Amino acid sequence: MSLGTFVGRQVRKPLELVEANFRKPTGWFGQMLGHIMTMQHKTLTVWVIDLMNVQPSDRVLDVGCGGGMAVKLLSDRATAGFVAGVDYSAEMVRQATRRNDAAVRQGRVEVKPGDVSALPYGEGSFDKVCGIETFYFWPDPMAGLREVHRVLKPGGQITIAMEMSKESAAQKSRLQKYLSQRYANRSAALGMSILSGVELVTMLTQAGFRQARYHSEPNRALGWLCALGSK
Ligand SMILES: C[S@@+](CC[C@H](N)C(=O)[O-])C[C@H]1O[C@@H](n2cnc3c(N)ncnc32)[C@H](O)[C@@H]1O
Repeated sequence: MSLGTFVGRQVRKPLELVEANFRKPTGWFGQMLGHIMTMQHKTLTVWVIDLMNVQPSDRVLDVGCGGGMAVKLLSDRATAGFVAGVDYSAEMVRQATRRNDAAVRQGRVEVKPGDVSALPYGEGSFDKVCGIETFYFWPDPMAGLREVHRVLKPGGQITIAMEMSKESAAQKSRLQKYLSQRYANRSAALGMSILSGVELVTMLTQAGFRQARYHSEPNRALGWLCALGSK
């Protein structure tokens, strides 16, 4: 038996366990991390939703909705519209449903299991679609963007946001710089797309979106980045 195994099961190093559960929260650890990340992403989520300019009658979809914080804040704005959340983690669907319990019962919010590669909605279903802190994990990011394009109405808006990007400012200390670079390199090696604003805007344009543009907050986390485009 190698050091990496224990009673027949693979034992992950703590950082690997955290990364795997950011990608797809599962089991007791995913349940705990899901609650933590929902709160940890709240300031980013508020920033992103402000940029989305949500209207009261909008139909909005949050892809990779996690614990449903964005769904809740979106439904506070789309008061006469409809907000849906989709996530491929059963645990996150459960947490998001519970967080939006009253609005789900009123039929103003819906949370469904689903993968960005095949969203469970028809063509032209939404005015706005967002994905917050999820894009890095999509196995085929271009196919995911095209799938978002499909479910948007003509003129509808996509918003993709992340707290880790190449827009990160020079770090304050050498240690901070070393740690953030190490984490970014490690994440890229795991297949997570760490992008600049220009790279993300180029991808949106290639996926068929018009007027793609981005906003960044280089001093927040590892470089908050939010790109928007229109169908
Ligand atoms: C880091 S969490 C972010 C969750 C939430 N958006 C937030 O900001 O707190 C990433 C989420 O994306 C979901 N996810 C990753 N890849 C996905 C895919 N291909 N389809 C649907 N959901 C996905 C994960 O299950 C997880 O809940």
